[in-house]
Amino acid sequence: MKALILVGGFGTRLRPLTLSVPKPLVDFANKPMILHQIEALVKAGVTDIVLAVNYKPEVMVAVLKKYEEKFGITITFSVEKEPLGTAGPLALARGVLGKDDSPFFVLNADVTCEYPFEAMRDFHLAHGGEGTILATKVEEPSKYGVIVMRPGSTEIERFVEKPVEYVGNRINAGIYIFSPRILDRIELRPTSIEKEVFPRMAADAQLHTFDLEGFWMDVGQPKDFLTGTCLYLSSLAKRSPEQLASASEEFVHGGNVLVHPSAKIGKGCKIGPNVTIGPNATIGDGVCLQRCVLMEGTHVKDFAWVKNSIVGWHSSVGRWSRLDGVTVLGDDVHIADEVYVNGASVLPHKSISSNVCEPGIVM
Ligand code: GDD
Ligand code: MG
Repeated sequence: MKALILVGGFGTRLRPLTLSVPKPLVDFANKPMILHQIEALVKAGVTDIVLAVNYKPEVMVAVLKKYEEKFGITITFSVEKEPLGTAGPLALARGVLGKDDSPFFVLNADVTCEYPFEAMRDFHLAHGGEGTILATKVEEPSKYGVIVMRPGSTEIERFVEKPVEYVGNRINAGIYIFSPRILDRIELRPTSIEKEVFPRMAADAQLHTFDLEGFWMDVGQPKDFLTGTCLYLSSLAKRSPEQLASASEEFVHGGNVLVHPSAKIGKGCKIGPNVTIGPNATIGDGVCLQRCVLMEGTHVKDFAWVKNSIVGWHSSVGRWSRLDGVTVLGDDVHIADEVYVNGASVLPHKSISSNVCEPGIVM
């Protein structure tokens, strides 16, 4: 089977992390976001993956080429000269996607869930229409694509991208399966699949929806990245609890904690709930961590407190310092001792030595 992952866009909403690394390579629960998707696709029998890239392709190629051998799959980089939107990349990759009659998956690279690829494929083949959209329900639908169903069926009557007025709360989860026939609808030019292709497919009664069970999150902005991490950890606790730190560990304060085996943790720490600690991280003594993400090589010094925050690669937090309020430290940021940082986005390679009390960007 085949799949295309949309990995373009500048990931502006996930800055400052995406100033150093393209969004799909940002670590989510200790591995690149896109690797979660690739592993799930491989498990469902996908052997041909196209990555539709338009930003920092050389970085992506370097990291992802090694997965070809590891998983025994073919990864093709389809590089756009200008951003082709969410539909144009399908036309550019027509050679791979349309090479046979079998359906192919399309994924937004920034969504996390328990990817139900096999069930989607069976459902898609059974209804025989051109496309199936994975759907979930949210409380705040206005920042997503909203699906209106034909009563009593799985058919989509209307698709409205980022509606200004409320039309419903069943939304596009950013994961699709299509028959190659869809390629006849898409030209090689910048095109939005959500605004230009889905409404027409719905009008032609060719678009169905498959309801997702369990958690879902678009992790393309820091607040949602933290929420998505919590949801992912709860799901991991049910599926494979052995991957989480055992509640009997001295440092586990409660809830789900994921610690990379190479991380070092000092004495008398209170860690959890909802914490991920990356490779080679060093945590001092008496550190308190709650609802936060520490990337690779981070150093949280003695008695620091990190809550509701993301600490980027190789950054450090000083003794007795405190981060809160969705603070995001970019790569290689250093917070001095006894400093309070609330809701700041700190650009890579900065040092901070005085309090930042109001949310904002620190350049
Ligand atoms: N190759 C390529 N080229 N990829 C692109 C481009 C482009 O020009 N523009 C965006 N993408 C990729 C992004 O990297 C992302 O993986 C995906 O397309 C969707 O773009 P986002 O910018 O994340 O869109 P969104 O989150 O506002 O909305 C989309 O996702 C929602 C679910 O999270 C839409 O598909 C909504 O309908 C959906 O509900
Ligand atoms: Mg998104």
